[in-house]
Amino acid sequence: MSNVLFIKANGRPADSSVSVALYENFLESYKTSHPNDQVTEVNLFEVDLPYYDGTMMSGLHKEVAGEPLSPEEKRLADIANGYLNQFLEADKVVMAFPLWNFSIPAQFLTYLFYLNQAGKTFKYTPEGPVGLVGDKKVALLNARGGIYSDGPLESHEMSLSYVKNILNHFGVTDIETLVVEGHNATPDKAQAIIKTGCDKACCLAETF
Ligand SMILES: Cc1cc2nc3c(=O)[nH]c(=O)nc-3n(C[C@H](O)[C@H](O)[C@H](O)COP(=O)(O)O)c2cc1C
Repeated sequence: MSNVLFIKANGRPADSSVSVALYENFLESYKTSHPNDQVTEVNLFEVDLPYYDGTMMSGLHKEVAGEPLSPEEKRLADIANGYLNQFLEADKVVMAFPLWNFSIPAQFLTYLFYLNQAGKTFKYTPEGPVGLVGDKKVALLNARGGIYSDGPLESHEMSLSYVKNILNHFGVTDIETLVVEGHNATPDKAQAIIKTGCDKACCLAETF
């Protein structure tokens, strides 16, 4: 039995969000094909994700140093570490997210900041940082209205590339990616593009 964490980084319903449609199709297919796995869902738009500010940082640093924390430092450090520990405990992680303004939603960025902690997801060495969670399997479901896989906007793609770089930094190499793109750029093909993506999400879930 695997412990599987599903991260949803869009607060809209599936009928108005392609990344959520991918998420729902993947999730339903996964549950059917892996009935004994333990699935945990996190909707990053429904939970409290305080910014990674000075108080949270000092709380996290003091905890590592074994120094006493103020009540507010402890509250914020506990939130970040709660998400970090949940991620560390998962055997597999599925992340569904849109490309927004060439990047990712602020909620998802904050979540990834929580995970990016030295000594937990990576460590510093004289040769540079080394990832610590190489045994994790990850699926990335990404939707973007324009076309970024090639052409003039390729270098502007900082959603999937960013998330992949962060995961590589954690040592994760087993990454499946599913990208749906171009549905806003070519509205006449939008329905077919989205349908193909949702079908692929179902197939990917069966073998994930
Ligand atoms: C706030 C916001 C910013 C967006 N920025 C871009 C963008 O920079 N480039 C682009 O091609 N599409 C952009 N889009 C369109 C999304 O990429 C598109 O809707 C895609 O399907 C992912 O979002 P969804 O899961 O909400 O459908 C943006 C959409 C929103 C709501």
